[in-house]
Amino acid sequence: MAIELFNDGKHKCVKFDDLFRGSEVPANQFLLVNDKRGVLLDPGGNKLFSQLTAEIAPFCPPQRLESIVLSHQDPDVGAGLNGWLLISDATVLVSELWVRFIPNFCTSSLAEDRVVGIPDAGAELGFGDAWLDLVPAHFLHSPGNFHVYDRTSKILFTSDLGASIGPDKENITSRAEFERHIPFMAGFHQRYLPHSAACKQWAAHVRQYPIDMIVPQHGARFSGPEAVNCFIDWVDQLVGALG
Ligand SMILES: [Fe+2]
Ligand SMILES: [Fe+2]
Repeated sequence: MAIELFNDGKHKCVKFDDLFRGSEVPANQFLLVNDKRGVLLDPGGNKLFSQLTAEIAPFCPPQRLESIVLSHQDPDVGAGLNGWLLISDATVLVSELWVRFIPNFCTSSLAEDRVVGIPDAGAELGFGDAWLDLVPAHFLHSPGNFHVYDRTSKILFTSDLGASIGPDKENITSRAEFERHIPFMAGFHQRYLPHSAACKQWAAHVRQYPIDMIVPQHGARFSGPEAVNCFIDWVDQLVGALG
């Protein structure tokens, strides 16, 4: 089911969270639309391609995709890239660390000149009247990792940071719900995001943004100031497997 995270009539943020049918880890995919122009975030692997193409069509035909942002290099983020390059003219943005690796997902001729590196310090991306900030989140968990902040909706898309496995709620809105949600996140963060220094750096950085919602690539999202602040505070004090 497509979940509209934000819609003011001109600008939309849509989450797709139920396209998985196999044994792969379930993941969310995201479409942002402004003035009929689209940006895809972390569209996922080959098995999702046909279904996601159909799901996004009512919001934005694939031909109107301008950019595809990959938060990092993992297969659940962008292994289906070849199909997207075939049916759109979109440019792919990924950490400059991964520019020479991502074409392994694609036919060489398709990837040529269409994979653009995001510098370590981050970047801005405009589409329609909207602007996105590509926010550095290195080592959370990939050494070249970016989150996406949408200035219009004030949503921060946090890739694997905040991932939950099998949560019993899709939308966390209060401190009480957040406390009950921690067990769904804890094991994953301990093993996949083991650097507390990177967590502290991220928390200090994102506190500068006005954030209405935090939306990870896996599992539930955090809505409203109470849940958003609980999550940032939780990341700030995380102690991973490497301390
Ligand atoms: Fe990942
Ligand atoms: Fe992931």
